[in-house]
Amino acid sequence: MKKPLIAGNWKMFKTIREAVNLVQTIKAGIYKITDCQIVICPPFTALAGLSPILADSPLELGAQNMHPENEGAYTGEISPLMIKEVGCRYVILGHSERRQYFKEDDIFINEKVKTALRYSLIPILCVGETLDQRNARQQHEAVKLQFEQSLKDLTKEDILKTVIAYEPVWAIGTGKTATPEQAEQMQSYIRRLLKEKYGDEIAGKVLILYGGSVKPDNIGELIKKPNIDGALVGGASLKAESFIQIVMNATKALEAEAAR
Ligand code: 13P
Repeated sequence: MKKPLIAGNWKMFKTIREAVNLVQTIKAGIYKITDCQIVICPPFTALAGLSPILADSPLELGAQNMHPENEGAYTGEISPLMIKEVGCRYVILGHSERRQYFKEDDIFINEKVKTALRYSLIPILCVGETLDQRNARQQHEAVKLQFEQSLKDLTKEDILKTVIAYEPVWAIGTGKTATPEQAEQMQSYIRRLLKEKYGDEIAGKVLILYGGSVKPDNIGELIKKPNIDGALVGGASLKAESFIQIVMNATKALEAEAAR
């Protein structure tokens, strides 16, 4: 069985001091968890400070973005080398907030994904439709296009080192979670796209996360779905209690499923 992955995307929240406090509490709360991969993605400024704290824990570090070049005259940007140096193993790419507010397109995101893989960083590639696209019943076309373009040129080896996160834009920060059925429906579609491109065996190994208003009380039903391999959590990852509870509830739900 695949180990689920729960990642906390802190977005633009937490100073270094706040980040250290939060991670210390999370670390104390999840020290017994071995059957779940847990990733913390704080703002860039907190990465270096958190790295030594996470070193002796099951928690891993991820960045929320990066530039596709390893260095250059790109004012305000951060390179893959820099996030690797501070201990990141993961990097979130193509988040809908990057697409929407910073006009990142799939071609640029594809460059980033390929660079991340070249530097042995695991990309967490986000895809997801807007409310308008869903209302127009174009959610599958929208996700397919992002999938095809953002993951263009990836080999079988590459895709095995990539995580995909389905985050419907209408469910992010709105408290309006996709129902487990809606999420599963799209994630099984993504799995089908993976199968068509890479074959059944490889497609079955790729982790597909769900993101969008994940909370302690809905993670259990989400994670039980066959194509939901974990979660990318925004708001609820900013409080130790709710993030720990999400991890606990996810592992409990999976144990219960396995025992059935
Ligand atoms: P929320 O959990 O706050 O809806 O955010 C989801 C998200 O964007 C994670 O990347």
